[in-house]
Amino acid sequence: MTRISMTWKKITEKSTIVSGKGMEFEIDGKKIAVFNQNGYHALDALCVHQDGSIAPGKLDGDIVECPLHFWHYNIKTGELKDFLKDIKLQTYKTDVRDDGVYIDL
Ligand code: FES
Repeated sequence: MTRISMTWKKITEKSTIVSGKGMEFEIDGKKIAVFNQNGYHALDALCVHQDGSIAPGKLDGDIVECPLHFWHYNIKTGELKDFLKDIKLQTYKTDVRDDGVYIDL
């Protein structure tokens, strides 16, 4: 799907998400996980397995582990790394500005 317009939204202050961790935000009714891991990475928060949130998952490099049953996703591409092929969570661009962290919805 081609996205016609970009809408940058401020999601939080720069100090909110601890380095090496993720947090979940609800924006326009969507649950989005934002990770602070070598820069900010944003993607849909709900695991395709049983809708667990990946935001509190453990990170290992670019890979986050869903806390519920340990499925793994790449936080940069959204790609599911195990069990099913060709599954991707939607990812969003991020931008760090003077006044906070923004994502492009
Ligand atoms: S809900 Fe994520 S692995 Fe089950």
